[in-house]
Amino acid sequence: MKTNVNLKTYNSFGFDAVAKEFVEINDANELQTLIRRGQLKNKEVLVLSGGNNILFTKEVFDGIVVFMNNKGIKRIVDEDNHAVFRVQAGEDWPEFVKQIVAKGLHGVENLANIPGKVGAAPVQNIGAYGMELKDSFVQCEAIHLETGKKRTFVNKECLFGYRSSIFKGMLRGQYVITSVDFLLKKDAPLNLEYGNIKAYLEQNGIKDPTLQQLHDAICAIRDAKLPDVKQIGSAGSFFKNPVIERAQFETLLKEYPTMPHYDEPNGKVKVPAGWLIEHCGPSTPSTGSGTAGTASWKGWRNEQVGVYDKQALVLVHYGGGKGEDIVELAQKIQDSVEEKFGIRISPEVNFV
Ligand code: EPU
Repeated sequence: MKTNVNLKTYNSFGFDAVAKEFVEINDANELQTLIRRGQLKNKEVLVLSGGNNILFTKEVFDGIVVFMNNKGIKRIVDEDNHAVFRVQAGEDWPEFVKQIVAKGLHGVENLANIPGKVGAAPVQNIGAYGMELKDSFVQCEAIHLETGKKRTFVNKECLFGYRSSIFKGMLRGQYVITSVDFLLKKDAPLNLEYGNIKAYLEQNGIKDPTLQQLHDAICAIRDAKLPDVKQIGSAGSFFKNPVIERAQFETLLKEYPTMPHYDEPNGKVKVPAGWLIEHCGPSTPSTGSGTAGTASWKGWRNEQVGVYDKQALVLVHYGGGKGEDIVELAQKIQDSVEEKFGIRISPEVNFV
């Protein structure tokens, strides 16, 4: 257990925040011991994994950070058609995907290069390019923070939704995921349907991509659109894509015929928040090197923070800023989108 630890390198935004207490977990049993000894009792507990979806809004976190760093990837089932892997929470997600793809196994390839750790992936049911974690998730093991008891959650029990799960909802803050089991198929059709995958493959002269080629294409597409968190602080998509009523959508479409949209199974319509943010702007022009003076948030920046110029859904920290700068910018964007389109977008990132 350490005290007064700066979390700057533990959050992808790169904001300073001091944790009063900090403990690194290298084995799930260590966490149980800690709980049984009462070392988390009456304290605010923050379970930290890759720190890729978190925004520190205060300079001091007056509690204890539990940093999950347990490792291990094990094939626990090997059948003719599929295999099941048990992966410890502290494993790096992109590395795990790389290993699975290299083994020729299907199920996580479209989730390539999403920064973060395995234990955090189910919490917000990470998703990209037409695939979600829930598609290959079998079950996870979790430890109750108060009792230290282990519990297995099968897929159905996790109540997975768009960027959500029971761990972000009803059971928020109650359990720590320590390992996840994934079912991976030895053969399966590739999902090339989403947005620009086909276009990218065509441009690169790839007609019938292999699993590896699809994985590499997705890495390249993401790299071109999303900032490298080692260079520019960010938490990926800052907002969720809003789902609106069809009637409201029809009205908007009349005014904005180019607005991209996806039909939802319940008759509602999902609209990309990135498009909405790009198509409205600040009342005061940017002082930075972005698209100064134009009525678009895309590329807007001040000295410390801004809206990424290649993807308006991503808020970035250029350095020297505070979490509150992002909170302030996010509110301005939410107000601006609401004023123009009548839609209130909500953050995907967790505020601490
Ligand atoms: N768009 C714009 N301007 C922008 C950004 C997007 O007009 O600045 C338009 C695009 O042209 C496209 C549509 O919006 O028509 C969708 O854009 P994109 O394919 O980039 O995806 P997204 O909806 O912005 C979501 C996920 C990403 C994921 C991509 C790819 C959410 C909140 N975000 O973004 O996930 O990588 O799809 O599947 O659902 C993340 O969660 O951190 C994340 C990066």
